[in-house]
Amino acid sequence: MLKESKNTSTKTAYLILDGTTYELPVIVGTENEHAIDIQKLRAETGYITFDPGYGNTGSCTSDITFVDGEQGILRYRGYPIEEIATSGSFIETAWLLIFGELPTRTQREDFRNLLSEQELLHEDQRHHFEGFPSKGHPMAILSAVINSLGCYHPDLLEIENENEFERAAAKIISKVRTIAAWSYRKSQGLPFMYPNPGLSYCQNFLHMMHSIPHKPFEPSRAEVRALSLFFTLHADHEQNCSCSTVRMVQSTQANLFASVSAGICALWGKLHGGANAAVIDMLRHLRDGDLSIPEYLDKVKSKECRLMGFGHRIYKNFDPRARILRLAAHDMLKDREIDDPLLEIAMELQEAALNDEYFIERKLYPNVDFYSGIILRALNIPVNMFPVMFAIGRMPGWIAHWWEAHRKGVSRIHRPRQIYTGPVNKKYIPMDERN
Ligand code: ACO
Repeated sequence: MLKESKNTSTKTAYLILDGTTYELPVIVGTENEHAIDIQKLRAETGYITFDPGYGNTGSCTSDITFVDGEQGILRYRGYPIEEIATSGSFIETAWLLIFGELPTRTQREDFRNLLSEQELLHEDQRHHFEGFPSKGHPMAILSAVINSLGCYHPDLLEIENENEFERAAAKIISKVRTIAAWSYRKSQGLPFMYPNPGLSYCQNFLHMMHSIPHKPFEPSRAEVRALSLFFTLHADHEQNCSCSTVRMVQSTQANLFASVSAGICALWGKLHGGANAAVIDMLRHLRDGDLSIPEYLDKVKSKECRLMGFGHRIYKNFDPRARILRLAAHDMLKDREIDDPLLEIAMELQEAALNDEYFIERKLYPNVDFYSGIILRALNIPVNMFPVMFAIGRMPGWIAHWWEAHRKGVSRIHRPRQIYTGPVNKKYIPMDERN
């Protein structure tokens, strides 16, 4: 039961349990989202709520990102993603997410300089890469080496002011590129390329990925722009699994390096950041295997597998990031004069799924991962690096959420409850008496 309270513009929810009525306050967000505040529910009623997967649970209030899944709206700090994607850069977006405002020219340049200062790894960190097997997955390497930054910067384990936070944030956003590129170089047996402070954020990453000694890789403007767009569109998405993981780890008062390292682990799974690689595997399977698109969709509908890159917990309409990336993928391939058959298959698959009752009924639309792999392929990024690319892009969002929670200082340690369904009060049986 939810009804307007008599003398205020806010609402109150009423819960009737065992004949007693309880009043539950209602919180309203700036975009008119409503939540029933149950913080005192257990203390007052003895009941808890049951919400596996947290689909109906607000774990915090946040000023960072707004998503309206019904209408397909995404805004960073109030700015529509479409405008940011057209006019902004990844570095500007990172600043916006973390500090709350679009940077002035001076702030952006200072931040760029700070990132350039921080791009080198401590030389001892080179040895970490030697210790990993050459077939080691780059997500495992990324998570481990990001966490190890805490060993090299112990002064930043306890962040006490904005200055220290900015330094820690810049270290992660800058070094994550170097670590990611080196994890790839290690897997290929290629020499590590040091970052070049004369290059922009995205140019520098592509240089560390693809240059070889005495032969610098010089990406086109379109390639740099496409990478910046990819990172920008992945920069934040409010309380998804990896962001919530970062906030959960932060709630123990763990440091920034450990918290974002945990975020990388949460992102890895193929229902989340690993989906971009799974989409390419699926498209290759359709290109090379003997299943037609309708046959493949039949397998999906009989629940043998999922249509990767489709569906979203929040979006029940088009994911606005997918719209932007679909156009960008077309532009990118046209610009590079590449004919990627996987894009054709993706288009056919999307068309078939969007016209199929199974997907219509469940409101399943392409998500950000459906087209992102096409762009990454055109940038010669290998498939096992796709979730790593997602992690580089998502870093500003995780950092912004960590800082918001740290600064507000209001969050209790995250500790959900459960409904216990196991055996009840059994008597211990000594070893000799067991069958
Ligand atoms: N293919 C086929 N069926 C699907 C898909 C899919 N991709 N996604 C959801 N469904 C079906 C479910 O089987 C379920 O059907 P049912 O009602 O018959 O049981 C119904 O749609 C609801 O699905 P849920 O699993 O309850 O949806 P949820 O919100 O928990 O999952 C998720 C969201 C994980 C993204 C899901 O849609 C999925 O697995 N998609 C494929 C993986 C993917 O692309 N992940 C990337 C997400 S975006 C991101 O993380 C950046």
